[in-house]
Amino acid sequence: MSEIKVLIAFYSRTGATEALANAIAEGARAEGATVTLRRAREIVSRDVMAYSPGWAESADAMNAKYEAPTEADAVAADAIVLGTPTRFGNVSSELKAYIDSLGGLWFQGKLNGKAGGAFTSTSTTHGGNETTITSLYTPLVHLGMIIVPLGYADPVLFRAGTPYGASSVSGQNNAPPTADDLEVARFQGKRIAQVAKALKAAGMTQTA
Ligand SMILES: Cc1cc2nc3c(=O)[nH]c(=O)nc-3n(C[C@H](O)[C@H](O)[C@H](O)COP(=O)(O)O)c2cc1C
Repeated sequence: MSEIKVLIAFYSRTGATEALANAIAEGARAEGATVTLRRAREIVSRDVMAYSPGWAESADAMNAKYEAPTEADAVAADAIVLGTPTRFGNVSSELKAYIDSLGGLWFQGKLNGKAGGAFTSTSTTHGGNETTITSLYTPLVHLGMIIVPLGYADPVLFRAGTPYGASSVSGQNNAPPTADDLEVARFQGKRIAQVAKALKAAGMTQTA
C-alpha cells in the first residue's frame, strides 16, 4: 500500500482551530498518513488587522510555523481537511480565499475522488459550528470530493464535536479545545486517513 497524504488547510486567529488541526494531524499520523499542515493567510491589510488587538501578532506567530496552502498541496493530497473559525455562522474569508484559488484544479477534475472533511471552532455553543462545517461541505461537493463525516462512529462523539466534523467552543476568553474536543479531532484524522486509503486502493484518486 502506497503512502497516504493528508492536507490539513486551516485558518485560525486565536489558536483554537489550530489546536484542532494539530489533533487531526495526530490521528491521521497514527493511521500511517503523512500530514501537511498549512495556514491560510490574511486577506486584509495590516491597518484592518489593527482593529482587533493581537491579530497581527498571532498571525505573524502562526505564519512562522505554517506555510500557506497551495494548489500543489491539494494535488499531492489523498485527503483534504478544511478548518476555520466560525465567522457569523460561516467560513472565514481567509480559508474561503484558499478554496477559491482551486478553480483551476476544479476545471481539470484534479480533486475528484479525494476524501474531504471539515472542522471548526465557535465562541458559543450554538454559534454556528454545524452551519460552518456544512458550508465547507458545499465546495467539497463541487470539487468532486468524497465527504467523510464522523457520525457517532466513536463513543467520544456522544460527549463532544459534531457528527459533521470536529469542533470546539472557545467562549469569551479564547479557551482552547477540551480533551474530548481533541479526541474527536484525532478520531477525524484517523477516519479520513482510513477512507483515503480505501479510495486510493480502489483507484479513485490521482495525486499528480
Ligand atoms: C468577525 C467574527 C465573527 C465571529 N462569528 C462568530 C459566530 O457567528 N458564532 C460564534 O460562536 N463565534 C463567532 N466568532 C468567534 C470565533 O469563531 C471563535 O472565537 C473561534 O473559537 C476562534 O477560533 P480561532 O481561535 O481558531 O481563531 C466570530 C469572531 C469574529 C472575529
